[in-house]
Amino acid sequence: MLEWTPEQILGILDLAARMKKVPGNFKNALLGKTLLMVFEKASTRTRLSFEVGMTQLGGHAIFLGRGQSHLAKADLADEAKCMERYVDLIMARVYDHSTIQTFSASVNIPVINALCDRFHPCQILADLLTIQEKLGELSGRKLAYLGDGNNVCNSLIVGCLKMGMRVSVAVPDHRDYRPDSEVLVFARDFGDRFELIYDADRAVQDADVVYTDTWVSMGDEAEKATRLPFFLPFQVTKERLGRAIFMHCLPAYRGLEVTDEVIDCEQSVVFDEAENRLHVQKAVMHRLLLG
Ligand code: CP
Ligand code: NVA
Repeated sequence: MLEWTPEQILGILDLAARMKKVPGNFKNALLGKTLLMVFEKASTRTRLSFEVGMTQLGGHAIFLGRGQSHLAKADLADEAKCMERYVDLIMARVYDHSTIQTFSASVNIPVINALCDRFHPCQILADLLTIQEKLGELSGRKLAYLGDGNNVCNSLIVGCLKMGMRVSVAVPDHRDYRPDSEVLVFARDFGDRFELIYDADRAVQDADVVYTDTWVSMGDEAEKATRLPFFLPFQVTKERLGRAIFMHCLPAYRGLEVTDEVIDCEQSVVFDEAENRLHVQKAVMHRLLLG
């Protein structure tokens, strides 16, 4: 997401929208192609959307869990170099961003980040498509993100700012819960289109979209008890939602980052957002393999 131009991102959104509208036009586009899906962490939406997406495009997807392969103990670059002899495309969900970088540096086929400790770019492409569908033109819209300055928050800042949106992020005033420092440097160039504050009520003012994510990401489970008191003031409530649409990458922890009333209300678009993972994943694979 940091490397892509706004035109490249818009191109993916446009292709995803066309695939969603007439899936049959792309039925055998990736016939004979194989996607390898490497997972160090759990997943519902990412695994299903990539695997189903590949099936719908006429290709094949292989799931490789860390525990069922040699990845946990072997040299990662060696394993990656073998993988590329069999498959056309790799997607990986990993703990450390450096693992994605090692994959990418070791092979000559495309590598997709399907979530790491720092980023979740595929999610944000689906989010942008959803905002476009619900609100039209992205440019000028305001997204307020409340909660943890995590992987989803980092990629949202990058994706939304590149699309001309305004982004207000409200996080606890604690150095461990702020967005990534590289992302904050990136955001600095966007002037008053970006703000990082510690006040949830202020962040949601005039927001078109209110977005949140779990307060305890995968890998942070041991910190749950320490984290919760810092995040309780950042819950998305009906009052904070106002007239905005509500978004969440899911899985959501009801009663923590969001109330039942919000996630179940008419303004909540979380299931359309989840569906759009499929259309966007297909567009990303199509673009990476066919140009
Ligand atoms: N939003 C998302 O990435 O969901 P999964 O963890 O279920 O893949
Ligand atoms: N921030 C969450 C996103 C899950 C899709 C995590 O990393 O666990």
